[in-house]
Amino acid sequence: MPTVEIDGKRIEVEDGVTVIVAAERAGIEIPHYCWHPGLSIAGNCRMCLVEIEKAPKLQIACNTRVTDGMVVYTQSEKTQAAQKAVLEFLLINHPIDCPICDQAGECKLQEYYMDYDRQQSRVPLSGKVHKAKSLPIGPHIMLDQERCVLCSRCIRFLDEVTKTHELAFYERGDHNVLALAPGRRSTTRTRPTSPTSVRSARSPTATSASARASGTSSARNRSAPAAPTAATSKSTTARGASSATCRASIRR
Ligand code: SF4
Ligand code: FES
Repeated sequence: MPTVEIDGKRIEVEDGVTVIVAAERAGIEIPHYCWHPGLSIAGNCRMCLVEIEKAPKLQIACNTRVTDGMVVYTQSEKTQAAQKAVLEFLLINHPIDCPICDQAGECKLQEYYMDYDRQQSRVPLSGKVHKAKSLPIGPHIMLDQERCVLCSRCIRFLDEVTKTHELAFYERGDHNVLALAPGRRSTTRTRPTSPTSVRSARSPTATSASARASGTSSARNRSAPAAPTAATSKSTTARGASSATCRASIRR
């Protein structure tokens, strides 16, 4: 059985165990968004980057298997710089509407920001990419695309656990959004939208030529979906939305 040293703690684990799991067993938390032990490994959030001795660059702990004699640093200077940079990247277009977010106070974005980032955004609110704020994606769920960090956990859950495939990523780069898959329609009744609260949000359309891939590594990308409901082609403010984020998804 390989023995690995993580932040000075030595631990013996079975063959095939990943660094993030070995660290957890040693009582060391490696920050992560996309990894979940019950799902396949996507490796797309990069929040779990760690420094490994003799490796030429930082490695993601969620998809790196331990080898005998491996020495890992989860809080080295290089690791901390990467954690800070990844968080800044994940929050570039985040609306930072924590005061009106139902998840505030128990949110991994907030927690990791305080633990690993703590810097002012270099992008003013007016310069952020806006997306749909209240997409009904099921009888009880509203999706706020702006708060989604595109970890793909929900997609993998629907693909691998329920096998119902309702969600997928569309568009590329900073236009990348989570949305309902073609043919999947929400049965949710939508709330009335105040005319003054409408933002210029993007919603996937059936005619979008570029809506094929997301740039993330494992979530399946599909061709552009038809607008799920009439209501999803417009947006509302976060205040008008009834809780839109992935509550359980990025917690573990
Ligand atoms: S809605 Fe939540 S679980 Fe789904 S991709 Fe976005 S952040 Fe991840
Ligand atoms: S948790 Fe490792 S890349 Fe997301």
